[in-house]
Amino acid sequence: MSIGDETRKIVIAIDGPAASGKSTTARLLARKLGYIYIDTGAMYRSVTLKALEGGLLEHLRENPDAIESLLDNVDIAFDGDRVFLDGRDVTDAIRENRVSRHVSFISSLKPVRDALKQMQRNMGGRRGVVMDGRDIGTVVFPDAELKVFLIADVSERARRRYAELLQKSGDNNSVPSLEELEQEILQRDRSDAARTHAPLKKHEDAVEVDTSSLTIAEQVALVYNLALEKTAV
Ligand code: CDP
Repeated sequence: MSIGDETRKIVIAIDGPAASGKSTTARLLARKLGYIYIDTGAMYRSVTLKALEGGLLEHLRENPDAIESLLDNVDIAFDGDRVFLDGRDVTDAIRENRVSRHVSFISSLKPVRDALKQMQRNMGGRRGVVMDGRDIGTVVFPDAELKVFLIADVSERARRRYAELLQKSGDNNSVPSLEELEQEILQRDRSDAARTHAPLKKHEDAVEVDTSSLTIAEQVALVYNLALEKTAV
């Protein structure tokens, strides 16, 4: 029996910079708790993919309001670990580096933030959810019972992202170098933290966890124990 069956259900917000281990931790934690996992980064990535595929990206830099029509017609859904954009499985496509390069710009647009915040609140409204992103504890669910802020050294984060991209492509010629990835991650952290709307920042109540030298099992166990403290009745 998972603890979700016998104790009160809560919202767990996991925020932090790029490649700090949020999605791996959140996914495994949700499984252990019998909770729903919502990867909000996948939602921003899906909107970015749609803008790229629709040839809207260049146009948006001069006329950001053009995003409104895209948002009126976007459908993002999760089925287990798969992500669907307008009914199409985009789980792999949204992780491509061409999406990573533009996602911070798309995420800085206010209409995008407003639309996705509403979708996320609807998805998590019944509690029993682990949600990861940049602004979950600060903006989307400021009343989340457990807020965690994951960090890690940038060199370790670049190494993890490199391994992930390599595993997916199976060919290191198509994967950016470690140095390039480190620069892209730093650039994305800077844009996410500097933006006006819902910037990346640690909520004062969030528990900070540095995952630089933790294994996946260790970081999941750590957050699971924090969740047990919050759900105990
Ligand atoms: O996996 P990684 O940490 O690289 O990124 P992600 O969680 O997939 O998020 C991709 C991008 O979406 C971030 O760099 C942010 O620009 C944006 N994002 C956001 O603004 N707010 C969120 N709640 C989640 C993601």
